Amino acid sequence: MDIQLSSLAASAGMCFVSVFAIVFLAITFYILSIVVSFAVFCVREFAQRAQDRPPLIGTVLRQLKNFDRLFDEHVSYALLHHTGRLIYPGHSEVFTSDPAVIEHVLKTNFSKYSKGAFNTQVMRDLFGHGIFATDGEKWRHQRKLASHEFSTKVLRDFSSDVFRMNSAKLAEKISYAAADRTTIDMQDLLMRTTMDSMFKVGLGTELNTLSGSDESSIQFSDAFDEASSLVYYRYVDLLWQVKRHLNIGSEAKLKKCIQIIDKFVMKLIQQKRGQMKNGHDHNAREDILSRFILASEEDPETMNDRYLRDIVLSFLLAGKDTTANTLSWFFYMLCKNPVVQDKVAFEIKESVNWAQEDNIETYSARLNQGAIDKMHYLHATLTETLRLYPAVPVDGKMADEDDVLPNGYRVIKGDGMNYMIYAMGRMKYLWGEDAEEFRPERWLANGVFQNESPYKFVAFNAGPRICLGKEFAYMQMKIMAATLIHFYRFKLEDESKGPVYKTMFTLHMDKGLQLLVYPRGIST
Ligand code: HEM
Ligand SMILES: *[C@@H]1O[C@H](CO)[C@@H](O)[C@H](O)[C@H]1NC(C)=O
Repeated sequence: MDIQLSSLAASAGMCFVSVFAIVFLAITFYILSIVVSFAVFCVREFAQRAQDRPPLIGTVLRQLKNFDRLFDEHVSYALLHHTGRLIYPGHSEVFTSDPAVIEHVLKTNFSKYSKGAFNTQVMRDLFGHGIFATDGEKWRHQRKLASHEFSTKVLRDFSSDVFRMNSAKLAEKISYAAADRTTIDMQDLLMRTTMDSMFKVGLGTELNTLSGSDESSIQFSDAFDEASSLVYYRYVDLLWQVKRHLNIGSEAKLKKCIQIIDKFVMKLIQQKRGQMKNGHDHNAREDILSRFILASEEDPETMNDRYLRDIVLSFLLAGKDTTANTLSWFFYMLCKNPVVQDKVAFEIKESVNWAQEDNIETYSARLNQGAIDKMHYLHATLTETLRLYPAVPVDGKMADEDDVLPNGYRVIKGDGMNYMIYAMGRMKYLWGEDAEEFRPERWLANGVFQNESPYKFVAFNAGPRICLGKEFAYMQMKIMAATLIHFYRFKLEDESKGPVYKTMFTLHMDKGLQLLVYPRGIST
């Protein structure tokens, strides 16, 4: 993150004058657009019975002012009205925390809502026609291929091997900090580990960002992280298209990052195709890329190298930050709730067939599916973490036609439809009086994990576009948690300071998570 910020600042410094002009233009444009949108709003409201529209819950200006704590702004919306809206230039953005509305949008009336041109345009340069940036036929095609691959034993076995191996590497790394009593930035370590794991599962190649790798891997990894955050910046940068056209500022930076990413990934795809043609690399058929290359033989026209690039980059985006961020909040909550940490540790000891003389590697090899499946309390604790700290804190769609919501409110074609996942976890009307408490027990009945309606617990999305990697995510998170917690106890370096989120796609901790580590079983 630091690298990104300083390079952003550097490029901003270089063209201070043009930045000033842009800011001035942006403000003028913004004021103008507010005036115009207000006029459009008045006309629409009078023309189309305003009383049928969701009530107003705030203003765009206040949202901009509170951008740093945007998801808490959503909490105040949800407390005011379960479904309400903000007026934007030319359209409304509806915000809901109502499971009935969410079920309507994500499932029963799925065909009336899409990602929308605005979203797909923002995503296009980096993710091409990958699964996140598409609707309609292209989405259906990838969804079908991917859900087939994800249900195969080959991919499951391969990925659990990768997760075990990389968890052991992380535990090894942490052992030095435990020995020296040095502070670790847990979020940073988790981000590297999931990057390595998802890269290996996705492309079949070691990236080794955790243990320090060759320069081109680091360059790729940094470029990918920076590009994701620059793409998110487009949502608040009214002038991104102008800047893209002129190739200046953040957009010039983004273009450079994408060049680095493309060079790295396209080379890997060509290598992989070569290996598979020669047929001498037997292992080359286990990762997602290989599986898709095999599938591409049936339809080489559509599934060219460019399309394969889009597919694998989307999986990297889908699985990497979401998993690392969830684990970061999970370890934070374990530190805040030592009783829960002890309970998790106890369950792990009970579920795994371990031996006193195990080292990290022999222990992690014991974390097979059977052992993982026994860990209901760990499963509940991860889920409780996602309830309060959902990796995707807000998500949305766009109305492709006029519609009436189950609560009677009217939606107009072009309206945004946002569901406030972070805010929902804090609503008493959904979770009861203790909604804001961290209580894994709420997910258990007689020690057995109980699912909730996916329209109320929306952390993995719901309906036809529900997260494809949910089972993979739990497997990865449980293997990592079980490896680390078996060997170590975690404490916050500074009990008085909690992490704060950074407003972006995923619920990232702004300044990392500084932890102290102790060998488990030795008192501090
Ligand atoms: C804790 C971890 C995870 C969380 C909380 C999570 C959450 C989500 C959410 C909210 C969406 C919907 C996003 C949208 O509106 O487009 C989604 C979609 C998706 N996720 Fe996950 N995800 C996680 C891990 C993973 C992993 C590990 C993978 C891959 C191995 C994965 C693969 C996908 C894919 C492919 C989609 C797109 C589905 C579609 O549009 O049809 N996810 N996930
Ligand atoms: C849309 O959702 C409503 C309930 O919200 C349902 O009654 C109706 O059948 C759905 N329409 C379609 C076309 O699926």
